[in-house]
Amino acid sequence: MAGVFGQKLLVGKNAIVTGGGSGINFAIARRFAEHGAKVALIGRTKEKLDSASDEIRKAGGIASGHPADVREYDALVAAIKSARETHGEIDLVVCGAAGNFPAPALGMSANGFKAVVDIDLLGTFNTCRAAYEHLKRPGASIINISATQAFSPMPMQAHVCAAKAGVDMLTKCLAIEWGPDVRVNSIAPGAVDDTEGMKRLAPTPEIKKQITRGIPLRRFATKDEIADLALFLSSDAAKFITGAIVVCDGGQSLAGLGIGIMAAMQPRP
Ligand code: COA
Repeated sequence: MAGVFGQKLLVGKNAIVTGGGSGINFAIARRFAEHGAKVALIGRTKEKLDSASDEIRKAGGIASGHPADVREYDALVAAIKSARETHGEIDLVVCGAAGNFPAPALGMSANGFKAVVDIDLLGTFNTCRAAYEHLKRPGASIINISATQAFSPMPMQAHVCAAKAGVDMLTKCLAIEWGPDVRVNSIAPGAVDDTEGMKRLAPTPEIKKQITRGIPLRRFATKDEIADLALFLSSDAAKFITGAIVVCDGGQSLAGLGIGIMAAMQPRP
């Protein structure tokens, strides 16, 4: 059994994962499949979805790809309908599709800002809204993939900070409106190794080392650690948790300036 749990937690469940063709979202989809869920991957690029679902199938899981851009509501509705027709009513939703590029506010056009807000925030709303009628209720779970930028302002990330703050508020509003039938939670990862986002935000070993010094646990997360958290939140073990923003960042967002000062005074590897 892969992961830290000793038994399969999602047997008989059907999941959709947006952005599931790569990165954190693929790791989540793979973990769900290892735990017995049938997973439908939604994303823009058919080839990515095909190779991701092949990988899950080769490992003995059940997976399928359904291309759509989360910004386009009608295409998304069609993809979710196709996922439902393939695997059955949906128990679990992970809204993970996201966009990012590091740029100062004055270095991005209105359209650049809008592109990220549309993918992250509108795309999350679209997915939740379109999935709702296909959810097997009661007992359904939605996880929105946020980021620590939602509550920690960061230079070069005005678009992502604004979008993810919106995602977390959307999580809380939907948790109120859709209880008791549907649980809605956010996961806010910090720095995660080997992801497209961190390749952009920490492009050199020096920058990565500097960021690591500001993380109390002194390392980046692995994608599998985020996947384990998503697994827990989607499982019955979390059945009284809704509207929560669960931070998984090794303590990075707690530390603020203090950890930098401490690291400067007591240099550690
Ligand atoms: N700096 C400034 N502006 C940028 C930019 C950058 N590095 N990259 C894209 N933009 C702007 C474009 O110039 C365009 O604005 P314009 O029309 O005024 O020129 C706007 O963003 C939209 O770009 P477009 O090429 O049409 O792409 P898109 O709408 O498909 O989405 C991204 C662009 C960058 C948001 C998206 O492709 C992406 O996020 N890719 C990376 C995925 C990723 O990192 N995932 C992990 C997220 S944590």
